Amino acid sequence: MKRVLFALAISLFICACTSINQVGLQSPSGNIAFELKVNEAGQMYYSLQLEDKKVISSSSLGMSLKNDSSFSNGLQIIDVKRESKNEDWKPVWGPNESINEHYNELMVSMRNHADKKLNLYVRLFDDGLGFRYEIPKQPGIDSIFIVKELTEFNFVNNGTAWTIPANYESYEMLYRTTKIDQVKDANTPATFKTDNGNYFSIHEANLTDYAGMTLKNKGGTNFQAELVPWPDGVKVKAKGSVKSPWRTITISKSAAGLVESDLIQNLNDPCALDDTSWIEPMKYIGVWWGMHLGVETWTMGPQHGATTENMKRYIDFAAENGVHAVLAEGWNTGWENWGKPRAFDQQTPYADYDFDEIVRYAKEKNIELVGHHETGGDYIFYEECMEDAFAKLHDNGIRTLKTGYAGPIPNGHFHHGQKMVQHYRKVVETAAKYQLMLDAHEPIKATGISRTYPNMMTREGARGMEWNAWSEGNPPEHHVILPFTRCLGGPIDYTPGTFDILYKNRKEYTKWNSNDKGNSRVNTTISKQLALWVCLYSPLQMASDLVSNYEDQPAFKFFEMLPADFDESKVLLAEIGDVYSVARRKDNSWYIGTITDENRRNVELDLSFLEDGKKYMANIFEDGDNANLENNPTDIKIRKVQVDSKSVLTVKMIESGGQAVAIVPIVD
Ligand code: NOJ
Ligand code: CA
Repeated sequence: MKRVLFALAISLFICACTSINQVGLQSPSGNIAFELKVNEAGQMYYSLQLEDKKVISSSSLGMSLKNDSSFSNGLQIIDVKRESKNEDWKPVWGPNESINEHYNELMVSMRNHADKKLNLYVRLFDDGLGFRYEIPKQPGIDSIFIVKELTEFNFVNNGTAWTIPANYESYEMLYRTTKIDQVKDANTPATFKTDNGNYFSIHEANLTDYAGMTLKNKGGTNFQAELVPWPDGVKVKAKGSVKSPWRTITISKSAAGLVESDLIQNLNDPCALDDTSWIEPMKYIGVWWGMHLGVETWTMGPQHGATTENMKRYIDFAAENGVHAVLAEGWNTGWENWGKPRAFDQQTPYADYDFDEIVRYAKEKNIELVGHHETGGDYIFYEECMEDAFAKLHDNGIRTLKTGYAGPIPNGHFHHGQKMVQHYRKVVETAAKYQLMLDAHEPIKATGISRTYPNMMTREGARGMEWNAWSEGNPPEHHVILPFTRCLGGPIDYTPGTFDILYKNRKEYTKWNSNDKGNSRVNTTISKQLALWVCLYSPLQMASDLVSNYEDQPAFKFFEMLPADFDESKVLLAEIGDVYSVARRKDNSWYIGTITDENRRNVELDLSFLEDGKKYMANIFEDGDNANLENNPTDIKIRKVQVDSKSVLTVKMIESGGQAVAIVPIVD
C-alpha cells in the first residue's frame, strides 16, 4: 500500500511540473478523432483521423497580432476541459423540422510567452468538426489587431476540388473542377473529394464581427486561412476580447452526406428572437426579370417596370396561382444615380408607382409585398436611413425585404471584410426589430446565423439566374455543383423558374450590362427549371420569369403545388457536377427534383420513403419527347401515375434536363 501511495505521489508531482502538450478528442460515435499538439517552440498543430486513417495531417493553429502578444508560438497549455451535448432542436423553418446536435467538446486554455491567454474550442460531431479561437478579456489586452490567422487545412490525399476563386467582393462566379493541389485560392464553402473517396467541405460557422475567411494554397494539398483585410491591411479589429467564427470541416463518405449535414447550423447560437410567429416561408414573383432582360427599366421612363398597373397585374397573377408575395424593384427614386454616393431614396416612390394604392390592392387580394432596398454598396448611407425605411415597410404591413449591394463599398472596404460583416448583421438585427424577413443580394456568405436570427431567410451569394439574362449564362453543370458547394452554407435565392428559355418572347431590348454579348439564353430545359425549385432550397422561393410567360402555362402548376417549406428532406442521388436528386416532404406529400449536367441521363428512383400501404398520385413534369436543349428546351411532358412505397420512378433527362414531381396521397 505504501508503495502505491508513493507511486501516486510521484506521478502527481510529474503532472504538476510537465505541461500537457498533446490533447485528443473523439466524435460521439468515435469515427473522427482530433489531436492537438504543441511543439517545443510552443507552436500549435492539429490533425484529424477518419476511421483510424489520417485525413488532415499536422496543420498549424494560432494567430498573429499587430503588437507583441502573438499567439503563434511560445504557447503552453494551462487547462483542458471537456463537455458533451446531445439535443434535438427545432428550426423556425428549414428543409427538416428537427435537427440533432450531438458533439463532444474540448476547451483548451493556453498562455503565450507574454502570459496572455488564448482559448481554443473544438467540437467534434459524427459529420465533422468546428474549432474557434477566443482571446478572452484579460489584464493588459485592450485593442486587438489580428494581422494573420495561422489556421491550416492540410489534406493527406490529393483528389478533386470544386471551388470558386478567393474574392473579397463577390461570390458570383462559376465553379472550377480541379485537382486539390491545383487550387491556388478559394472562397468557402469549398468542397473536396479525396482519392480514397472521402468528401470534405471547408467553411466557417457563425461569422460574427470578424473578417470573412478565404483559403490560400500553401503548397500541395495544404490550405491556409486568408482573412479579408481592412483598407489598412489589418484583418480583424476588436476591443478587449474577440471570438473567431468556427472553422469547419464537414466530413462524409458520400456527397449526399455533405448536403444532409447540419454541422454549420449546429455551430450557431440558439434563436435570439422571443417572438418568431411573424416569420413565414413564402413563394414570390416580382417585377424583376424584365429589367435584367433589358425590356423594362428600374428608372422611371417609358419602359419603367414598377408601375402601379404592372404591379397590379403581378398581384392578380399571384392571387390566382397560389403565389404568396410580389416583389417590386425600381419602385423608389434614385436609380438614375446608381453608382453615386447616397443614391437611393428608400422612402419615396416614383410618380408612376402609387405605393399606398399598391399596398391597399395587395391587401385586398390577400397578397404580400416584398420590399426592395438597393444600396449600391453605400452601407454608410443605408445605415443612416435604415430605421425609417424599415418602419415604413412595417407600418404598411410589409414583412419581407430584399436588399442589394451592387457596387463598391465606400472607403476601400471589401464586401467580405469585418466592416461589412458588422453591417450585414446590423441589418439583420434591425430588421428583426421591425419584424422583417430578409433576402440579401451581394451578401456576406451564409454561415448558419439563421438559427439565431431566423428572419435571415435567404441570400444570393452565387452566380444566380440574372447572369443568364446578360452573359453567356450559367452552364448546365453549375446547378449540379451548387447543392454541394454554395448551398452547404444555407438557403440560396437563385431565383429559378425562367420559362421563356430562348427569350422568344423578348421584345426589343436595351443592352444595359457590359457582360451582354447579345447571345444570352438559359442553358437548361424548362423541366430542369421546375426541378431547381426543389433542388435549391430557399424559404423565400422566387419564380423568376415575367408573368406573361407564365400565363396559360400548365408547367406553372408545379410552383403552385410546391409548399414554401418542408418537414423532411432526403437526398436520393448525388454525384457532384453530374446529377442530383432530392425528395422533400410536407405533411403527407413529397416533392422530388432531379437534375443533370450537360449529359443525358436515365435514372431510377426508389420511392420506398413513401408510407407503406398508402396510395399516392405522382404529378410528373419532365423533358418532353421532342425536347432538345439547343432549340426546343421548353418541350415538357406532364403526366400522372399512381405510386406507392414499392414503386420505382423512371427519370429520363435530356442534356441539362430535369424532372419535377409532386406526390400527393390519394384520399378515397
Ligand atoms: C443585383 C441583384 O442580384 C439583382 O437581383 C437585382 O435585381 C439588382 N442587383 C438590382 O438591385
Ligand atoms: Ca447579384
